[in-house]
Amino acid sequence: MAKLSVRDLEVRGQRILVRVDFNVPLDAEGKITDDSRIRAALPTLDYLLERGARVIVCSHLGRPKGRDPSMSLRPVVQRLSDLILRPVAFVDDCTGEKVEKTISIMQNGDCLLLENLRFYEEEEKNDPGFAKKLASYADIYINDAFGTAHRAHASTEGVTHHVRQSAAGFLMQKELKYLGEELSDPGRPFVAILGGAKVSDKIKVIESLLDKADML
Ligand code: 3PG
Repeated sequence: MAKLSVRDLEVRGQRILVRVDFNVPLDAEGKITDDSRIRAALPTLDYLLERGARVIVCSHLGRPKGRDPSMSLRPVVQRLSDLILRPVAFVDDCTGEKVEKTISIMQNGDCLLLENLRFYEEEEKNDPGFAKKLASYADIYINDAFGTAHRAHASTEGVTHHVRQSAAGFLMQKELKYLGEELSDPGRPFVAILGGAKVSDKIKVIESLLDKADML
């Protein structure tokens, strides 16, 4: 599948909305216990920031029912800032006046993190109005949220109908390349190792692997 890559874009000075999957585990005090998902998005974020893009990062975290402070993305701000070695601004919202004002004063190389997209029910409903609003904040949209790419939500699918240009981030590209190339012609023996929660979401993947893998 040919996909426009972040590498194909002119990004300097552009407002770029990057959908990442920062669905990280938090302990009872709200501390991040595993930052792998934040690290996985760094190649894309560093690439954009080093080239002078204005980067607006958005993600979901957990499955909140409405606004739930225990699932805020605020704990991610400091960790992300430590990893990208520059300040990260945070707005405790995804749309609205505060978001618009913050974006309007962003400079090249600035990074802004929005609040948990799922605080809005419109996100999972793929509401066109919400998608359009998100899109209005950006010149370009980049999807690097591979772990969420199977969901047609406002920030993953809806938004692409309203932006000038959409592209895949480096994490997305890496996973698509792997799935495309390695799974269509794997070395033998091909052993698939599966783990994690949400088994019901993975049944189709397991069924598909049964035909391909020598061992599961
Ligand atoms: C995950 O952790 O599997 C992804 O972030 C997707 O989360 P979701 O299953 O709540 O959509």
